[in-house]
Amino acid sequence: MIKADVGGWVGHSTVHPKQLELAKQKLQEAKEGGLIIDYFVFNAGDDLELLMTHTRGESDPEIHKLAWDTFVEVTEKVSKPLKLYGAGQDLLVEAFSGNVRGMGPGVAEMEIEERPSEPVVVFAADKTAPSAWNFPLFKIFADPFNTAGLVIDPKMHDGFRFEVMDTLENKVVTLDCPEEMYDLLALIGSYERYVIRRVWRKADNLLAAVASVTRLSLIAGRYVGKDDPVLIVRAQHGLPAIGEILEAFSFPHLVEGWMRGSHVGPLMPVSLRDAKCTRFDGPPRVVALGFQVHDGVLEGPNDLFADPAFNYTRRVAQIVADYIRRMGPFEPHRLPMTEMEYTTLPRVLERLKDRFAAVTA
Ligand code: 13P
Ligand code: 13P
Ligand code: MG
Ligand code: MG
Repeated sequence: MIKADVGGWVGHSTVHPKQLELAKQKLQEAKEGGLIIDYFVFNAGDDLELLMTHTRGESDPEIHKLAWDTFVEVTEKVSKPLKLYGAGQDLLVEAFSGNVRGMGPGVAEMEIEERPSEPVVVFAADKTAPSAWNFPLFKIFADPFNTAGLVIDPKMHDGFRFEVMDTLENKVVTLDCPEEMYDLLALIGSYERYVIRRVWRKADNLLAAVASVTRLSLIAGRYVGKDDPVLIVRAQHGLPAIGEILEAFSFPHLVEGWMRGSHVGPLMPVSLRDAKCTRFDGPPRVVALGFQVHDGVLEGPNDLFADPAFNYTRRVAQIVADYIRRMGPFEPHRLPMTEMEYTTLPRVLERLKDRFAAVTA
């Protein structure tokens, strides 16, 4: 899965149908040419999502080039002529150099041996950051109140192993659950810094989940939009069931992102049709697409949040959105100073610096 925001229609709300059309055409050509087995092109808000299957392994230069060239061509042939907003927003470098990692697009790659049945859920979110997956990944793979299989299924009973990335120091640490659950929580509760990148089943190291982890601002050294993240989770038969995976999204937890990437708001699960950010450029939202993979073919998508079972969650999300919106520019709705990415604050402080006087009384 490789994704990028290459221009919004309108503003940062969603993508233009012509962007989707051209991206599909590019991947269809790659499929006919034999480079990829299958693909699915979709959008989460203003992010263009390229889901691809192939047999070339992770970080393959040809696959990364296909994604990069697709983003560039969509930018040049659609986003720029139509003057879409932020054309080529996430393409941070001029020339492709073998791997899109660190060049702007988000990447979640998983090299697996297909099981006799391979149900997979692909999540894509807009107006938030990779840390948005910390809460649901913990619920899915470590919380027995969410995932009954941790207690009931002998194959899951040993627990799961989490790889956590320190996005500031660019380091990773691996922690086992349930044994090191409190250490894991101590890290991943600090969403501005620690992000879960991969999860394995402890018993046999089976790869269960992979998330995209990029911090565009750390690459570009300035605010360039949020790193709207993607996540791939394998399901069933000794892994969490589809329903246990989705259950983790029944609570619209608060994430960073929303307007100007500088606010806290609830993550609302929506259908593909509703993957469009409107109110205050949000609220942040997530889509879940299910696929039965067979010989690399993506049998799907099954639009999993297109279900009245999530209406209640959406309603709670809207109540929370309305509540927190009334805080306006006050924390904790607005992110703390250190995380404010679109900030005028340095300039305000510069202007006021001579007017700050010593406290005398
Ligand atoms: P599996 O063990 O076949 O994945 O089934 C679990 C289940 O019954 C889900 O509700
Ligand atoms: P995106 O990161 O989705 O482009 O959103 C940027 C923004 O400023 C929204 O208000
Ligand atoms: Mg955008
Ligand atoms: Mg976006």
